[in-house]
This record gives sequence, C-alpha cells and structure tokens, in this order.
Amino acid sequence: MLDSNCFNQDCRDCQRLAGFLDNVKLKYPDYHAQPVAPFGDPAAQLLVVGLAPGMHGANASGRPFTGDYAGLLLYQALYDFGFSNQADSAALDDGLVLNNCRITNAVKCLPPQNKPTGDEIKRCNRYLAAEIETLPDNAVILALGNIAHQAVLRAYGLKSSAAKFGHHQCFQLPGGNVLVSSYHCSRYNVQTKRLSMAMLADVFATIRSLLAGRD
Ligand code: URA
Repeated sequence: MLDSNCFNQDCRDCQRLAGFLDNVKLKYPDYHAQPVAPFGDPAAQLLVVGLAPGMHGANASGRPFTGDYAGLLLYQALYDFGFSNQADSAALDDGLVLNNCRITNAVKCLPPQNKPTGDEIKRCNRYLAAEIETLPDNAVILALGNIAHQAVLRAYGLKSSAAKFGHHQCFQLPGGNVLVSSYHCSRYNVQTKRLSMAMLADVFATIRSLLAGRD
C-alpha cells in the first residue's frame, strides 16, 4: 500500500480539476470521478507514468488506463512482457494483477479536454515525486508522452533541458534509476501511426533488458 504522500483520494488542490470532477460526477453518478490511485505492485521495479485519467476510461473505472483506448496497447505490452496475468484491463474486479510493475499518472485527476494546465501538472508533481521515492534501487520509469517525461524530470528536481523527450530514449537518472520515454499510446498516436504495437514492444524489450541487468 502506497502512503498518503503518494496519493490522496480527497485531494482538491487544483480548484479547476476538483470543480470539473464534481460536475462529471453529477452527469455520470456511476463514474469514479475522483483522483485515480496508482495501480499495481507497491514494490515494483517498473513504474509506468501516463498523463492523466481519460473521461470514460480511468476516470470512470478508477484504475489508470482501464477503459481508455490508451490502455489497449499498454496492457497488451505489459502482458506480452510478463508484467501481468492478463492482456486487458476492463474493470476493478477483472482479476488483473501486475507483476513487478505499477502504473500511475502525472496528473491524478481527469482534466477538461485531456489537457492539464502547467500549474496543475506542477501541483500534482509532489505525489509523483513521493511515489518515485518508494521505488527500489535500480528501477526503471517508463514515461508515456512528453508531459509524463517532463513530470518525471521535475519530480527529480531536474530541468527539462536535462533530457530531451524522444521515443525510445533512455536517460540515466540521479541515484541510478533509468528513465525510458515513449510516445504516448493514445488513440491519436496509434491511429496516426506515430506509435505501433511493434514500436511499444521494442520499448518494452529495452525495459526488460535494463531490468535483467539490475536484479
Ligand atoms: N488513461 C490514463 O490513466 N492515463 C493516460 O495517460 C491515458 C489514459
């Protein structure tokens, strides 16, 4: 179980996001419509960092990338590379278990139009920074997209110029962890062929070899 520094279900630090979630809850009473907690193995060596919950996906289900189009490729890749017991993530009670992997988001609340403001990303960063602190030595952090990449650098107190975002780029973080960055597995990136399953699989192959050398 991650402690309250890593996640707070009652957080209302971002007025815009808290107000937006209140309205979403009125419109969709069955939706989670609250900050979405990290999911997976608390002792994981692999931390996957996404952007933020999607309206009818993670925001509805309460689990990162669950019900979101973006989860299709991600959960398939996690399964293919031995980080989970099943290839899809449908709902909280679907029996999915992650092995040596945890998934979190740079911003824990659903942002309007999927676009958190710079201030919201900064405000939420304390949770990500605390979560990174819990990682074991020699962990790998997979950042999905530039916002997640920048959020990881910020969590380390690094400037964005410390590591330029690029697909399938690796960056040695202070303290020994490695940041691996990838294009986000969003519907847009997949449908425009910016990111394919094969490209994401290449990233996961790199992650597997990094972890194999780090036990
Ligand atoms: N759902 C999430 O939880 N995170 C993303 O980045 C995209 C969809």
